[in-house]
Amino acid sequence: MSGLTTRILIIRGNGCLTDFMYKLNTLYNLCQIIPAEPTFMSNPIAIIGAGLSGLSAANTLHAAGYSVQLFDKSRGSGGRMSSKRSGFGDLDLGAQYFTARDADFVRAVSHWQQQGWVERWSPQIYQYREGQLSPSPDHQPRWVGTPRMSALTRGLLGSLPVRFECRICEIFRGDQHWQLLDAEGNLHGPFSHVLVAAPAAQASALLAAAPALAAQAASTAMEPVWAVALGFEHALPTSLEACFVQDSPLAWIARNTSKPGRSMPDSWVLHASSQWTREHLDLPASNVIDLLTAAFERVLGQALPPVDASLAQRWLYARPAQPQDLRALCDPALGLFACGDWCLAGRVEGAWLSGQQAAREIIASIGK
Ligand code: FAD
Ligand code: NAI
Repeated sequence: MSGLTTRILIIRGNGCLTDFMYKLNTLYNLCQIIPAEPTFMSNPIAIIGAGLSGLSAANTLHAAGYSVQLFDKSRGSGGRMSSKRSGFGDLDLGAQYFTARDADFVRAVSHWQQQGWVERWSPQIYQYREGQLSPSPDHQPRWVGTPRMSALTRGLLGSLPVRFECRICEIFRGDQHWQLLDAEGNLHGPFSHVLVAAPAAQASALLAAAPALAAQAASTAMEPVWAVALGFEHALPTSLEACFVQDSPLAWIARNTSKPGRSMPDSWVLHASSQWTREHLDLPASNVIDLLTAAFERVLGQALPPVDASLAQRWLYARPAQPQDLRALCDPALGLFACGDWCLAGRVEGAWLSGQQAAREIIASIGK
């Protein structure tokens, strides 16, 4: 390289090219890089939603040298993979565990495991059908964030720029860039591209600038789920740690404390079926807790000791009613994109894969 170090190569660029050249320059000191003219790509990419799909895209865009700015209406990252702090420990009220089948996702999970963000969870699995409870062991690897589900998205967020408690209400485009309006009336921008990484029902309003994308999101029905957590001072006398439930108001039971890294008293998470939730959507939380606790007793076939603590959370947009094969929604000419679990199957793996696809589409659209 010694002959090259005497030459000065002037590069005007932006995005990944400039980032790549900076790295090359650090190694070989061979060129002088001057900042790009203000162009379309000198602005960051806005990502609305710091759930897994938004963070999946954010990490890939960041690694490729693009700057991103995340927004989330909640107080922290994770969306439906978030965990709730309570007097009886951290509770995973949304996603319970995830499986990895796609080869890229398997590699990502292995990396997350090395980072200490996720661990295998191997519960004693039961199933409940037609009034019968029976063990139902299998060899499926299942993963959870540790010491709580939200540890994964916290790890993925790292030091990426994010604004929490910022609900974006409108996205609009000027000549060359996008601006976002939040619920408090603040404007954010300019941005070169916008990626909407929110559940379909919330995404459709934000995608109004691209009617075809908005219509696709609007036509995706999402199912609700009531989740209840129960805390007991003394461990319940059962070996059951997870249960797939049918023929009951419940669809799922998990002993939250059987997941790795959870200490604290015995805590349980119950998920109602989507059908039961639809039928009891507006029931007060205390009634939901009573009804689902009674269903839990019926599944276990034993009376429960007094519950020491309980809470309920209603997920209005828990999962898409049907799997789809959209992967991500794209309007490259406008610079508007959407991703989320609803573009594939309503699972953690689908959310991550959809975010990956959106990032690839954004990068490809910049290259054109
Ligand atoms: P989300 O996690 O919903 O993230 C979207 C984010 O966008 C949220 O943080 C939200 O606050 C934010 N947002 C929305 N609108 C706006 C706005 N206007 N402005 C700013 N921010 C906004 N999957 C599994 O694989 N295994 C399971 O066991 C499992 N169990 C589940 C149980 C329940 C009760 C629920 C609800 C889901 C479960 N899932 C499970 C599904 C899994 O949680 C989701 O597939 C995945 O977390 C979706 O990620 P996402 O990024 O697509 O969406
Ligand atoms: P998975 O392969 O463990 O489970 C898929 C389905 O197979 C289960 O729902 C269950 O019906 C059945 N099953 C698996 N193992 C079983 C066993 N040992 N005994 C009896 N039945 C068994 O996981 P996958 O495919 O990653 O799905 C994730 C989980 O997330 C599923 O349980 C799914 O229902 C749940 N989910 C829940 C949502 C909600 O809102 N409650 C939203 C999205 C996913």
